[in-house]
Amino acid sequence: MNLDKLKKKAAWAALDYIRPGAIIGVGTGTTIFYFIQALSTIKSIIHGAVSSSNTSTFLLKKQGIQVFNLKNFSSLTIYIDSADEINHQMQMIKGGGAALTREKIIAAMAKQFICIVDKSKIVDALGKFPLPIEIIPMALSYVSKEIIKIGGEPKHRKNIITDNGNIIIDAYNLCIKDPILMEKKINSLPGVVTVGLFASRRADIVLIGTKKGIRTIKQNKII
Ligand code: A5P
Repeated sequence: MNLDKLKKKAAWAALDYIRPGAIIGVGTGTTIFYFIQALSTIKSIIHGAVSSSNTSTFLLKKQGIQVFNLKNFSSLTIYIDSADEINHQMQMIKGGGAALTREKIIAAMAKQFICIVDKSKIVDALGKFPLPIEIIPMALSYVSKEIIKIGGEPKHRKNIITDNGNIIIDAYNLCIKDPILMEKKINSLPGVVTVGLFASRRADIVLIGTKKGIRTIKQNKII
């Protein structure tokens, strides 16, 4: 079974967690593309969505799902998103789709973060996937130098301006032994808007699409 089919399975499985009348936090990416399609089938029972990117806003509206402005909310019941990598502690690397800052804001606001992935995203240690870092453009050389100091190889992602008007550095080959510490360290660099490590606020539930069906991980227990 190809990975797209597994993404789709995980996306549809997320519908089981949606309560009538809810406002759904919606992530960004190819897995979320399938989730938005699934969500459209129950749009009459939800109140609407808040979105983590202009792309997802466009897709949600195209499906006739009302999108609210995030600035009018201080909390949410549920956030559904995918990840580029997720470890067994449910900590993630995100931002392959450049939407990491808005994704992190919604993740922080949500009572429940449900991560939907195909099985290829599960890793023992984070860091094989280059770590995305959204930065203010003028900080490019400075932040790149600091990433080299901690053992990474920074690459400026070409032709990408984020929805917030910033740029992205991808940090290759970082040895991420302590994801919470690394998240704090990179976030504290002047010029960094957001690092794509979701370690302090990790996922609450992971739905993994596999050939045999959905594997659910909840509070480090496989159900
Ligand atoms: C978007 O910025 C990302 O955080 C995505 O959630 C992540 O890259 C997973 O994307 P795919 O579903 O496309 O693999």
